[in-house]
Amino acid sequence: MSAQIAIQSPADAERVAKANDLISPRFYTTDFAAMDALDVSPVRAEWDKMMAEYEGDNNHDHFQRTPEFAAEIREMDPELKKEFLDFLVNSLTSEFSGQILYNEIRKHITNPDIKQLMSFMARDESRHAGFINQALRDYGLAVDLGDLKKTKAYTYFKPKYIFYATYLSEKIGYARYITIFRQLEKHPEKRFHPIFRWFERWCNDEFRHGESFALILRANPKLLQGLNVYWIRFFLLAVYATMYVRDHTRPMLHNAMGLDSTDYDYRVFDITTEISKQVFPVSLDTNHPSFRAGLERLHRISDAVTRAKERGGIIGKLKQAGWALAGVVTFARLYFFPVKHHALPEQVRVAPSW
Ligand SMILES: [Fe+2]
Ligand SMILES: [Fe+2]
Repeated sequence: MSAQIAIQSPADAERVAKANDLISPRFYTTDFAAMDALDVSPVRAEWDKMMAEYEGDNNHDHFQRTPEFAAEIREMDPELKKEFLDFLVNSLTSEFSGQILYNEIRKHITNPDIKQLMSFMARDESRHAGFINQALRDYGLAVDLGDLKKTKAYTYFKPKYIFYATYLSEKIGYARYITIFRQLEKHPEKRFHPIFRWFERWCNDEFRHGESFALILRANPKLLQGLNVYWIRFFLLAVYATMYVRDHTRPMLHNAMGLDSTDYDYRVFDITTEISKQVFPVSLDTNHPSFRAGLERLHRISDAVTRAKERGGIIGKLKQAGWALAGVVTFARLYFFPVKHHALPEQVRVAPSW
């Protein structure tokens, strides 16, 4: 079932962008002094090579509308349009969240390595956010990003949580965009909006952002050992489960591309897991039937919470609380499900070859 509201006005779009429920993208702030103190010298050679790639800026001309863009926009089935607009607003919020975080870090530090990295990543995310906002403008639904920056709530994360969460969201972002791009490359008749043609070069930016966090983590091996491994497991599960639940609120979006939400998500998990072996010593066993049953249960629980909310009243509230508890128990079971262990490769960098 579909949990999202129909976005029909800029105010609706802003409301969705501002949402702070469990599955909505958030804005983050962190400990800038700790960011300033980061040392990347243990990975200097790979770091400098990556900086040269950012400097080369091979996507500087990519995020511009071509004359064909407008001509390719077609009428959509209303249910598909509703899911697509929700997808655009969510993606915009994630991109803008990156832009704000990277920019704030850049402004508050002097460490030349990290400062330079943050300005490159903020540059990329601002192009991404701007491009999505232009697509929303075609529907009269552009979000006022200046206002969103001022009014959306911020979540404080210690730097290490920023690294785990942001590494994963950059890599999963790559895996999501490339999976859609490859699918529509094979089935161009299913490309119901021109924005998907931009996804290949776009997701290479996200891939590189993920590489940057991989290098920072590998330069600080303590963050990948001991009790921190429990945090890595937590973030892996939180990011995967959120994506699974959120994607299952958009079945039509995936169907229109000839994909099934469940299938699509497991393809994305496979790619992300494969990449994340560059940095995380553990990965989730997402192909195990019991693990899959747990994720499916989380999705059904999330639907039940939505129904209870819609019902309202005392019974609705009680039901909501009951399902919320069931959600916590299911999440905890998934958390304690055995993970796979890996030795970290000597060479950190991976190529975006999917
Ligand atoms: Fe981005
Ligand atoms: Fe990114």
